[in-house]
Parts: sequence; C-alpha cells; structure tokens
Amino acid sequence: MKKTMLLCILSILMLHCTTSDNIRHKNRGVTTKKAMVVSAREEASKIGSSILKKGGNAFDAMVATELALAVAYPYAGNIGGGGFMVYRNNMGAIGALDYREKAPLAASKDMYLDENKAVIKGKSTLGAMAVGVPGTVAGVFEVHRKFGTLSMKEILTPVIALAKRGVVVTKKQEKRIAKFQASFLKANKNPILFNKAWKENDTIKYGALAATLSRIQKNGRDEFYKGATAARLVKFIQENGGIITLEDLEKYQPKWRDPITFTYDDLKIISMSPPSSGGICLAQIMNAIEPFNLKEFGHNTTKSIQVITEAERRAYADRSFFLGDPDFVSIPQKELISKAYSQKRMKNFSFKKATLSSEVAHGNIEIIESDETTHYAIVDAFGNAVSVTTTINGGYGSKLYNSELGFFLNNEMDDFSSKPGVPNMFGLLGAKANEIAPEKRMLSSMTPTIVEKNGKLFMVVGTPGGSTIITSVLQTILNVHEFEMSMQDAVNAARFHHQWMPDVIKMEPNSFSDTVKSELKQLHYQLDESNAIVIGKVAAILVLENGELEGGADKRGDDAAVGY
Ligand code: GLY
Repeated sequence: MKKTMLLCILSILMLHCTTSDNIRHKNRGVTTKKAMVVSAREEASKIGSSILKKGGNAFDAMVATELALAVAYPYAGNIGGGGFMVYRNNMGAIGALDYREKAPLAASKDMYLDENKAVIKGKSTLGAMAVGVPGTVAGVFEVHRKFGTLSMKEILTPVIALAKRGVVVTKKQEKRIAKFQASFLKANKNPILFNKAWKENDTIKYGALAATLSRIQKNGRDEFYKGATAARLVKFIQENGGIITLEDLEKYQPKWRDPITFTYDDLKIISMSPPSSGGICLAQIMNAIEPFNLKEFGHNTTKSIQVITEAERRAYADRSFFLGDPDFVSIPQKELISKAYSQKRMKNFSFKKATLSSEVAHGNIEIIESDETTHYAIVDAFGNAVSVTTTINGGYGSKLYNSELGFFLNNEMDDFSSKPGVPNMFGLLGAKANEIAPEKRMLSSMTPTIVEKNGKLFMVVGTPGGSTIITSVLQTILNVHEFEMSMQDAVNAARFHHQWMPDVIKMEPNSFSDTVKSELKQLHYQLDESNAIVIGKVAAILVLENGELEGGADKRGDDAAVGY
C-alpha cells in the first residue's frame, strides 16, 4: 500500500515537472551553440551572423547588422538617422555609445511655431525641416575604431552586395509601403523608389544606396560628413527647405556614455543613459516593483498588472519632467534611480483602487513618441554582447527620400518638445528639459539593455515602440526572470502599457482574460484595447544554463534569429 502510494506521488510529481517544464519552454526559440544575431529582418541577421562566423566580434557584427538593416528594413533601419548601443564585453566591462541625431546649428526653440506661437502642424514630422543631423555612419565607424577586428571593407562587402541584389518584400512591408504612399508624394518633389504598388515577393534593388555605401567603404566616415556624399546631402536638404549645413555634418560626433546600472533581485541591469529616458525609467519601474512578489501573483494577473501599471504611472510622470540631453540639462539621475525613491513613490499605492494619474506628482507633461524604431541583439563566440536600438523616428522617417543617395532622412526633431504644454501631431506634450537648442540631442525612449545574472551575461534585449519601448523591455525581462518563460515565449507573451498620461492601460487586443479585464475595471482602471497598436517588437537573446543561446524574435514583425 505504502509502495503504491509512493509510486503514485512520484508519478504525480514527474507529471507536474514535465508539465511545468513544457509550459515554461513550450516555445523555445532558435538556439545556437556559440553566437547569434536577432534583428528585424532575416537578411540583416544573416549578414551579422556571417561576420561572426568569419571570426569577427560582436562589434564588427554591429556595424554589419546596422548597415544591413539600412538596406533590408528602410522603414526604420538607416544611415539617415541615429541610435544607441549598450555593450558588455567578455571581461564584463560595460559601456554605451550615443549616436543620436542632433538639432542643427540653425535650430531654435520656436522653429516649429507660427507668428502666433502656435505649433505648425507637420513641420517637425514631414520633410526637410524635421531632419536632425544624422549620427548612424559616425556611430558605426566609432564602434569599429574602438572595438572592430575585421576591416570595414570586409564588413561592408556583404551589405553592398545585398543592396545590389535586392531584398524581397514581405507581406508586412507591402502593407507599410501602401500605407505611406500619400506621405511620400507630399514630402518629395518627385516620385521615389517606394511610390509603387510593391507586392509581397517582389524584389526591391537598392542601387543608389549600394553606390553610397561603396563610397563610404572606400573613403570612410568622412565621405558622409565631409565628402561628396555630405555635399550632395546638404544641397538636397536645403533645396527641400531644410536648415542642415555642411558645418552641421562636419561637427557631428557620437559620444561614449556611462550606461545606467541597477539591480533587481539577483540581476544586474545595464541600460541606456540620457539622452535616452530608457535606462532611468526602467530602473525606476523595476525598483518600484521589486518588493512585490510577482511570481506569486502570476503572469498577466490582475495583481501583477496593477503593480506594474502603478510603477509605470509614477516613473513616466517623472520622466516627462526631468529628462533631456545631459549635455544641456542637469538630471537628478542618482536620486531618480535610487531604490528608496521609487519605493517611496509607491507608498500611496493600494491594491484596492487605481491611483489617478492626476494625483501623481510632476504630472503635467505627456510624451508620446512615434513607434517606428528597430532593435537588434548580438552575442559573439567570445562572449561579447551588444544591444542596439536605431531609428529614423517615424515609419520611413520624414518620408523625405534622397533618390540620388538612396536613403530616407529622419524626422527626429519631432522628439523635442516643439512648445512646452502643446501636443504635436503624435500627441506629444513636451517639457522644458527637452526644448530645442542648437546641437542638442532630443529625448528618446530607446532602451537597449543587457542583463547579468550572478556576474555572467544573461540576456540582451530591446525593442522599437516609442514610449512602449521601456515597458516592453521590462515585461520581457520579468517574463523570463519572474515567470520562468523561454526567451521566445517571453517575447511572444501579450503585453500591456501605461505611461501616466493618458490614464489608460493599453493592452494588446484579444490577449487578456475577461476575468482580469473586468477585475481591473472594477478597480477603476481604464483599459484601451481598441487600437491595434503594436506594443514593442522585441529582439532578444538569452544565455541558457548550458551556455547555448536562445533567440527571441518577435512574431509581431518579420524578425529572425540567426547564428551558429
Ligand atoms: N524616436 C523614438 C525614440 O527615440 O524613442
């Protein structure tokens, strides 16, 4: 009898273990033994991975992947924009590169206002006046100068070949191109390569971009900032009514910054510092939720959603008020990321009822950014990791496309506050800390992040998604750490987002249980499932216990994990 009972208990336990393991790792992503690249397009991941296979390191692959995305994913990949890279090398040293765009020298605080001090609709989003001085080419050359091992010639060769060969249109891309036809016509004097009903499986060849990249390969960084490309770019921008000069390009410099670091349980989080709000905001949210037992509450339960929402509400209220370019404004960084501060902010939270955003301090500014950015994650065979988010801001940036040079220009100037307190076309209300000044960098939400566990590389993660970037990165880390999901499941899992104002929880449609939604409503939370917004398109890599790498390539995009 005793034996039978024991056997029975054992088999129940075994069944339980198998079941819970299956639940956790139901959908393990692509796994590789040594190295991996996860990006928004398979073509770019493949090129990055081929550089790693050749013996290049994660930094060589960063250069290749960034430029391959400029070819394969013109929606957000770019040489006409900027970005941020966070790295952790195989010795555990960390750092961050800021190659964010800057305001031109001729920029001024009121440049998007009319004579009545009203914001001129569209001026900071469409066409040449919306363009910030691009940083991407300077960024990749700086990464290569400091850490590269392969020659630029070797790194750029497959990228140029891809541009000449062309890239196959995906279904999602077909829809995006169709959606922006009118804006392309409005922003450009003549029809551009994308003014065509491109269909899935068509191949778009990027001859002009291949020629630009070939000149950069031959002449180096200066080709873009001082050479023939620079001259043509400035002429083009000015002919289209913009204010960027050759001096702006010549003066552009990327900047090495100290990343934001903080702990959460046994994790160390390394994320982007200002001019991105990403790292500080992520630290504030994670510090606020750390004392709560999310594991016990469960994934996407009412209690978990409440705690995360309330932490987000408080952090986003601060974000709007305090953050801007650290070279221009003084940011109380140490205080904002201290555990005591965030935990004090949660003191008035109760499980019994939602806090009203109007009752949260520093709640007078809303920031909603455009969501068309792209992220990639790389781990090499030596153990170096890079996490990069790059952007031209809106989908296809300012829509201004230089047909001669073969790329779109950003509309990053819209990430500044055109006028404190007045919303721009994305609903952006800005703070003084983020007002426009010559050579200033505009505030960002981009959150390229690396996570260590017990002193070892654990995860590389990031995403596009404007203001939803920070909360998507947060949920992906929590899904693995608290809810023990595989990397791919953590990326696929339904996401929600709260950013203080508007006072609603945005939820991915048809992804949350009716019980949870009705409980939240009873607690006076307003839910918004109406708009099919994408809350993040995460690209991530997890280092598994056996040392292998698991990719998390988001099903919401055309993302792909490639490695060996
Ligand atoms: N342009 C989007 C961001 O920088 O957050």
